[in-house]
Amino acid sequence: MNQVYQKLEQCFQAIRKKTDFIPQAGLVLGSGLGDFAEQIDIACRVDYKEMEGFPVSTVEGHSGQFVFGRIGDVRIVIMKGRVHHYEGYEISDVVLPVRLMKRMGAERLILTNAAGGLNPGFKAGEFMLIKDQISSFLPSPLTGPNIEEWGPRFPPMEGIYDEEMSVLMKDVAEKFDIPLREGIYVQTQGPNYESPAEVKMYRLLGGDAVGMSTAVEAIAARHMGMRICGVSCISNMASGMGTVPLSHEEVGRIAKEAAPAFQKLLKEYIRKLG
Ligand code: HPA
Repeated sequence: MNQVYQKLEQCFQAIRKKTDFIPQAGLVLGSGLGDFAEQIDIACRVDYKEMEGFPVSTVEGHSGQFVFGRIGDVRIVIMKGRVHHYEGYEISDVVLPVRLMKRMGAERLILTNAAGGLNPGFKAGEFMLIKDQISSFLPSPLTGPNIEEWGPRFPPMEGIYDEEMSVLMKDVAEKFDIPLREGIYVQTQGPNYESPAEVKMYRLLGGDAVGMSTAVEAIAARHMGMRICGVSCISNMASGMGTVPLSHEEVGRIAKEAAPAFQKLLKEYIRKLG
C-alpha cells in the first residue's frame, strides 16, 4: 500500500480511538495564535505525539496538539502548532495534518500564519487576506503517486482561496473595524529569512507577503476538495523594508501583539460559517 496513504490512515485510526468528533472545519494557527485554541468550547484534545508517524514540530513556541470543540454551532478542529519543510520533514509529512483534518470530516479550512510584508503599503501588525499564492519555490506536496481517493492527478489551482469564504472574512473584519489588506502570499523554503535582493524579486513576481508555511497546505487541501480561506498577520516588513532588524523574536512579539484582534476576527468568522 502507498506509504503516504497508510500513514494518514494510521493517524486517523489513532484519533478515532480517542474521539468520534466530526469537525465541519479545520483551523491552522500561525505563530503567536496558539492561545486561540483555549478560547473555544473544547470537547477533546489529541497530542500529535499520540499518533504514530505524525510529524511533531521542533520549533520553539510551536506546541503540537489537535484541539476539538465548538465555536457557536460550528464543530471545529484546531491545529495548535504546525510543522515546516525547513525542519527537515518530507513535504508529504508537512501536509499530513491538513489531510487528516479532511479525513476526519472537515470540508473547510482556515489557514493562518505570520508573514513578512512585501507590499510597501503594508505595516507590521496588519492582516492580509490571501487572494492567491506562489508556491513555486518548494516541491509540490502532490509529488509521487496520486491517490485517486483524495483527488485528481492534476488539480487546478484557480480559485484556491474560496471566494465566498473570503467575502465573509472581509465582512467580519469590516464589522469589527479591523483593517484587512488583500494580496498574494509567497512561500519560501526558509528557515533563513530572505535577502533584500530576494525580497525585491518576490515583489517583482507580484507577492504581497512572504512566509514559510501555508501554500503547500493549501495545495494539499485543494487537492482533496476543501474550501479554503487564508489570513496572514504581517508580523514584520520583509528584509530591507522595515525599520527594525528582522528576528524570530521580533516576529513573535508583533504576532502576539496582533493576536487579540486576530482571535476576535477568527472567532466571529468561524461562528458565522455555521
Ligand atoms: N519572511 C519569511 N517568513 C516570515 C517572515 C518573513 O519576513 N515573517 C514571518 N514569517
